Amino acid sequence: MILRSLLVASLASLTAGYVIYEKLNTCTLYPESLNNNGRPEDDAPSIHKAFQKCGNDGRVVFSNHTFNINSVLNTTNLENCDVSLQGELLFSDDIPYWLSHSYSVVFQNQSTAWLFGGTNITFRGEGGWYNGNGQAWYTENRNQSNQPGRPISITFINSENLLVDGLTVIQPQFWATFVSYSKNVSITNLYVNATSSDEWGTVNTDGYDSWNSDTLLVENAVITNQDDCVAAKGNTTNLHVKNVTCHGNYGMTIGSVGQYPIMPDYVQNVTFEDVSCLNCMEGAFIKTWQGVAENGSSNGDSGGGGSGLIKNITYRNFELTNVALPIQISQCIYTEGGQNCNTSKMAIEDVTWSNIKGTSRYNIAASIYCSDVHPCPGIKFEGIELQSLNSTLGLPMYGTDIQNEVYQCTNIVDQDDSGVPCNRAAPDDYGQTVTSNVKDA
Ligand SMILES: *[C@@H]1O[C@H](CO)[C@@H](O)[C@H](O)[C@H]1NC(C)=O
Ligand SMILES: *[C@@H]1O[C@H](CO)[C@@H](O)[C@H](O)[C@H]1NC(C)=O
Ligand SMILES: *[C@@H]1O[C@H](CO)[C@@H](O)[C@H](O)[C@H]1NC(C)=O
Ligand SMILES: *[C@@H]1O[C@H](CO)[C@@H](O)[C@H](O)[C@H]1NC(C)=O
Ligand SMILES: *[C@@H]1O[C@H](CO)[C@@H](O)[C@H](O)[C@H]1NC(C)=O
Ligand SMILES: *[C@@H]1O[C@H](CO)[C@@H](O)[C@H](O)[C@H]1NC(C)=O
Ligand SMILES: *[C@@H]1O[C@H](CO)[C@@H](O)[C@H](O)[C@H]1NC(C)=O
Ligand SMILES: *[C@@H]1O[C@H](CO)[C@@H](O)[C@H](O)[C@H]1NC(C)=O
Ligand SMILES: *[C@@H]1O[C@H](CO)[C@@H](O)[C@H](O)[C@H]1NC(C)=O
Ligand SMILES: *[C@@H]1O[C@H](CO)[C@@H](O)[C@H](O)[C@H]1NC(C)=O
Ligand SMILES: *[C@@H]1O[C@H](CO)[C@@H](O)[C@H](O)[C@H]1NC(C)=O
Ligand SMILES: *[C@@H]1O[C@H](CO)[C@@H](O)[C@H](O)[C@H]1NC(C)=O
Repeated sequence: MILRSLLVASLASLTAGYVIYEKLNTCTLYPESLNNNGRPEDDAPSIHKAFQKCGNDGRVVFSNHTFNINSVLNTTNLENCDVSLQGELLFSDDIPYWLSHSYSVVFQNQSTAWLFGGTNITFRGEGGWYNGNGQAWYTENRNQSNQPGRPISITFINSENLLVDGLTVIQPQFWATFVSYSKNVSITNLYVNATSSDEWGTVNTDGYDSWNSDTLLVENAVITNQDDCVAAKGNTTNLHVKNVTCHGNYGMTIGSVGQYPIMPDYVQNVTFEDVSCLNCMEGAFIKTWQGVAENGSSNGDSGGGGSGLIKNITYRNFELTNVALPIQISQCIYTEGGQNCNTSKMAIEDVTWSNIKGTSRYNIAASIYCSDVHPCPGIKFEGIELQSLNSTLGLPMYGTDIQNEVYQCTNIVDQDDSGVPCNRAAPDDYGQTVTSNVKDA
């Protein structure tokens, strides 16, 4: 250990900062703290230096130490670069700094702590991890949603042929990963865990979101958080999600879409398969805005009136355990009390739920609400075997006479051919959070 530190120190003193250049255009990063008797100092400048030096036809290695990230990272325009994360990236919890410095990602007025991107890139977690120090954000955010400036942990932007393998994100500040304006991005062996240690939840800590991107893979992931597990947002096409375990979150979703009238959303060719959801709020669902713009708040949660198309979506091989709302389409997830649900301009077509098994938390298996403006053709249920958790335990459902599973349907085209065993109309006031059994006949 002592020998290695000495070696590192002497090499580093030959260079500015703590990047060590080796042959074959490899830059190995060591944290500044090794030079300062362990006193943390911002490592962002040397990280930028490493990517400038080795980001084109090179390799950047974060050695097995803790790096302090106290300022925004912009490592974009990389070409033919392999990144190896062997240490911890510890993001500062200086909330005022991030609120005023994180980079805009345009979408929903959100922003990010790290813009990462380029062509022909690999980013491999090789024993290292990203620590967003998110507890400070969870506590400060006090269960509110979408605070402007609260940063997405890492945004993969303007990327083509990018493989991110073995990325671990613990305590993300906000959404953990976001893929934007990219093509052919694969994220494999992803682990995300946002767990709060106080009375405030980890609101908006999505595991994976995509927007304006094509040809995407998410394979082998374990995601613990308090929002979407994986979400395909506007203009996501050809997304394949396979072998994901979701803990306590909102499952696999398309949306929200239809927020902005000037930007229609097209989401096509998405398959989610081999998914487990444990104690989730949702399992497999589609969420759109209502057709009339509403000024709900100033934090990215306002909108509606957007149009577009969601087409050719498959949810298959899901194992659900205690999921509040296993299967859903909602066309008005943000309206209070169901105003304008029937106005949504988003067309939804050809959605299949196949082999969805397990337990629902309440007496509800599915709620499919399509708007009057766009009834949904091509809805298919195949092999749906859902039972309420209580009935599997021989316990009654509380506060209701309805002891069998409820399937709610509104505006399904050719409902009789859909395979959906509809036994109720879907009400127009179902948001994405259900907290009790269906009571009314
Ligand atoms: C990020 O860096 C690139 C150069 O690599 C630059 O073109 C771009 O404007 C920067 N982005 C931001 C948001 O500063
Ligand atoms: C990326 O890789 C592809 C396939 O190997 C190659 O054709 C292309 O030129 C590469 N692009 C860059 C920017 O190096
Ligand atoms: C990183 O270093 C720690 C001890 O500081 C060690 O336990 C761990 O195995 C090392 N990881 C790798 C990938 O070498
Ligand atoms: C897509 O990216 C992968 C790396 O993840 C690469 O191996 C593959 O060649 C790329 N596909 C195309 C069509 O460029
Ligand atoms: C997530 O992190 C919490 C707190 O560290 C831990 O108790 C839990 O087991 C983790 N969950 C998973 C699925 O790894
Ligand atoms: C914040 O939200 C979480 C999760 O929904 C909930 O368990 C907690 O009670 C809420 N905290 C307060 C103080 O209301
Ligand atoms: C599914 O993903 C988990 C977690 O990443 C992994 O341990 C497991 O091997 C994967 N299963 C298959 C069949 O690849
Ligand atoms: C989606 O792509 C279309 C063009 O195909 C564009 O008009 C629209 O603005 C895009 N939507 C978003 C949300 O970027
Ligand atoms: C959907 O997939 C089909 C079949 O691969 C392809 O022809 C079509 O172009 C895809 N649609 C989009 C929007 O990418
Ligand atoms: C639907 O999308 C899947 C990928 O999710 C693709 O394999 C299939 O060809 C698409 N079908 C059509 C009709 O575009
Ligand atoms: C967008 O974010 C900025 C801060 O990043 C904030 O000042 C502004 O109010 C936000 N605008 C909207 C419409 O939410
Ligand atoms: C399940 O049964 C328990 C014990 O009777 C009861 O407290 C609980 O409310 C029931 N759950 C539902 C969703 O009805």
